[in-house]
Amino acid sequence: MICSYRYFEETEVPKDELIISRTDLNGNITYANEVFANISGYKVEELLGKPHSIVRHPDMPKSIFKELWETIEQGKMWKGYVKNLRKDGGYYWVYAEVSGVYKDDELIEYKSIRTPVSKEEKRLYQDRYDALRQKEEKVCRVVADISVDNYEKLKKLAKEESIEEREILNYILNDSLL
Ligand SMILES: Cc1cc2nc3c(=O)[nH]c(=O)nc-3n(C[C@H](O)[C@H](O)[C@H](O)COP(=O)(O)O)c2cc1C
Repeated sequence: MICSYRYFEETEVPKDELIISRTDLNGNITYANEVFANISGYKVEELLGKPHSIVRHPDMPKSIFKELWETIEQGKMWKGYVKNLRKDGGYYWVYAEVSGVYKDDELIEYKSIRTPVSKEEKRLYQDRYDALRQKEEKVCRVVADISVDNYEKLKKLAKEESIEEREILNYILNDSLL
């Protein structure tokens, strides 16, 4: 549930620094450099051992990660544009190269090195990914205003029912229309 501008706030990736992480073969983070921790808003210790999907942004189409995993599992390098989620709800864009780490010819881990993305590329890929999600997942993002009174009611209801506020909105916007 979004009731703050910070969810739409972008953090720019510094031009002269690389965001680096490694994962085990299941995608759990085994190494994160300080740049990665800073840009994602976590501490390095918070990232270690967590699935890499900790930074997965809801705007990213499922098919992109399917393609990523299929590519690296075949021993090839995957390259692509990724919008990632920060701990505070904001986001950052990266161009990522993901590939295997080998020891004595044996695949032991995966690694990813990421660099900044230009404004034009960000626009292009936001549009592409929106279109992909519309086609593949039959969803499109909606940003809407509701009154603060209704927002407070929603929060109260969610708390009482121990569910996410987002789930109630989903019900109103999707299921109740059926
Ligand atoms: C080395 C490596 C780096 C990855 N980096 C990211 C990343 O920066 N952001 C991201 O959303 N997924 C990243 N992934 C993919 C995630 O493992 C995961 O597939 C993705 O977040 C989608 O989550 P899901 O598979 O739970 O749907 C990376 C995977 C590997 C192996």
